[in-house]
Amino acid sequence: MAITIAAFSGSLRKDSFTTKLIKAFKELAPEDVTVDIIDISQLPLINQDLEINLPQAVKQLHNSIEQADAVLLATPEYNRSYSPVLKNALDWGSRPEGQSKWKSKPVAVLGCTPYQLGAFGAVHHLRQVLTYLDMPAMQQPEFYLGKASDKFNGEGKLTDQETKDLIIQFWDAYIIWINKIN
Ligand code: FNR
Repeated sequence: MAITIAAFSGSLRKDSFTTKLIKAFKELAPEDVTVDIIDISQLPLINQDLEINLPQAVKQLHNSIEQADAVLLATPEYNRSYSPVLKNALDWGSRPEGQSKWKSKPVAVLGCTPYQLGAFGAVHHLRQVLTYLDMPAMQQPEFYLGKASDKFNGEGKLTDQETKDLIIQFWDAYIIWINKIN
C-alpha cells in the first residue's frame, strides 16, 4: 500500500546536516513510500493573535500534515534540546486549540549531530512533546546520526555505507509500525 510521509528538518541552515539526513531518508525510501519534505522556514513565530486569520504558511502546514499517513521528524541538538524551529512547526500544527493536525499520526524521530556525543537530549525532549500531541511514536529502532560532518560529500549526498544500511533497516521497521497503527 502506498504511504505518504511528511518529513521535517529542524534546521533552516543552508548546509544543514539534519536536512541532508532527511534527504538521504527520502532517497532511500521504499518504492511505495513518498516522502514530502515540508518547508517550515516561512512559518511565523507562534502567536495566537494570528489564529484569527491563519497565515498561508500555516494553512499549508496543516494541509501537508492532513495529507500524510505518517510523520518523520529530524532534529539537531541545541543546548541539549531540540530546535526551536521544529517546536514552532509542532506548535502551529497543534493550533487552533482543539484542532490539532498531529493527533494519532504515527511519527518517528531522528537525531543528528556533527559531534560524537549529542542529539540524545534533543530526541528525549521531542519525544515528551509527541506524547502530549497524542502521536504514536515508534520507540525502536532509535536513530542517531553522530559525526554527521564525516558522513556526506561536497554535494550533500550521504556517502557512509553503514548509515545507509541503518536507514534502510529503519524504513523497514517504520513501515511495519505505520501499517500497525493506521
Ligand atoms: C548547537 N550545537 C549542539 N550540538 C550538540 O550536539 N549538542 C548541543 O547541545 C548543541 N547545542 C547547540 C546550540 C546552538 C544554539 C547551536 C546553534 C548549535 C551544534 C549543532 O549540533 C551544529 O551546529 C549542527 O551542525 C546543527 O545542525 P544542522 O544545522 O547541521 O542540521
